[in-house]
Amino acid sequence: MDHRRPPPSRRFSLYPPPPSSLPLSLLFVFFSFFFCFVSTSHAAFDVTPISFDEGYRPLFGDGNVVRSPSGDDVRILLDRYTGSGFISSDMYRHGFFSAKIKLPSDYTAGVVVAFYTSNGDVFEKTHDELDIEFLGNIRGKPWRFQTNVYGNGSTSRGREERYTLWFDPTKEYHRYSILWTANKIIFYVDEVPIREIVKSEAMGGDFPLKPMSLYATIWDASNWATSGGRYKVNYKYAPFVSEFKDLVLEGCPADPIRQVPAEGCKDTQLEAKNFATITPTQRRAMRRFRERYMYYSYCYDTLRYPIPLPECVIVPTEKARFKDTGRLKFGGSHKRRSRRRERIPVGSVPDNQASM
Ligand SMILES: *[C@@H]1O[C@H](CO)[C@@H](O)[C@H](O)[C@H]1NC(C)=O
Repeated sequence: MDHRRPPPSRRFSLYPPPPSSLPLSLLFVFFSFFFCFVSTSHAAFDVTPISFDEGYRPLFGDGNVVRSPSGDDVRILLDRYTGSGFISSDMYRHGFFSAKIKLPSDYTAGVVVAFYTSNGDVFEKTHDELDIEFLGNIRGKPWRFQTNVYGNGSTSRGREERYTLWFDPTKEYHRYSILWTANKIIFYVDEVPIREIVKSEAMGGDFPLKPMSLYATIWDASNWATSGGRYKVNYKYAPFVSEFKDLVLEGCPADPIRQVPAEGCKDTQLEAKNFATITPTQRRAMRRFRERYMYYSYCYDTLRYPIPLPECVIVPTEKARFKDTGRLKFGGSHKRRSRRRERIPVGSVPDNQASM
C-alpha cells in the first residue's frame, strides 16, 4: 500500500471558491487541513494482492479485458462494439473485495464502471448484491458514484446512496473496497469507510446471506447513468478504459448451493483483519465524508420510504441537508428518472428498480 497522495493543490474541490478577500495562504492551510481530515493517513489495510489469473477470469468482451505483462494488473475497455468485465473464479461466503481503480478520464457521460458482488447468475429470483457503481461524468464535472445493497431478491427495495469524491478518480489509483461479514457491510474509499450497514433482525433476508462472486464491468448505460440519462456515451472518445491493480479477494470460498465455506476457512480470520473494524478516527472521517459528499440517501427519501428501512441510522447533521426526496436541499439537480438496468450479466437483475 502506498500512501502517496497528490499535493493538495492538485486535488480539486467541489466547493465554490471562497471569497477572494481571504489570504491565499490561509485558504491553503484550511483546505489542507480539511483534506487531511477526510483522507487522513489511516493504517494501510491488512491485505495481500493477488494476480489476475490467481483469482479472476474474463466475463464478457474478452478482447477488451487486457492484462498487464506481469499479470497483476488489468484494464477493461468499452468501445463502440462492446463493454467488458471480469469475475472472480470463486464465490465467497463473506469476504473483503477490493482493488485500486483508475477511472476513464475525459468525457465519460453514460459510461458506468461497476465493482460489485452478486450471485445473480445462480439465484435469479433471490439474488444478493453489493454495489459500487461509478456513473460517468461530463468533462470538468466531478465523477459521481453510488453504493447499493440487495438481499434475497429485494430489488423492489433499493438502498441507494450517491456521492461525489474528494479527489479526481481519473488521475490516480484509489482503493475501493466492499467488506461483507455475517453481521455488517462496509464500503470503503481508500481507508475511509463511507457507509456501514449493521445487520438488524428486521432486515431479514434483505441482508445478503448466500455466497457471491466479485464482478468488475464497464458498460454503456446511456439511458440512466449520467444525470438520469440526459448525457449519452459519445464514442468519439472511445475506448473508455478503467484500470485495476492490487486486486484483493479475502474471505472464504464457498459453494453457492451447499453454502459451506472451504475446509478450514473461518469467518473469524476475516473479522480479525483491520478493515473489519472501524476505528474512532475512521468513524469521524466517515461522518465527515457523509456530511460533505453524500448527495442522495434512501434513508432520507421519505417520499419513497415514509418509514425508513430498518437498518437506517438517522443522523441529524446528515438529515438536515436533505429534502424529503432524499436529495440535497442546495446544489443537487439530479433528475429523478426510472432506472433501467442493462448491466451485464443481463438477466440477473429485474428491471423494476425504478426511482433513481
Ligand atoms: C428468500 O426468499 C425466498 C423466496 O421468496 C424465501 O422462500 C426465503 O425464505 C427467503 N430467505 C430469507 C432468509 O429470507
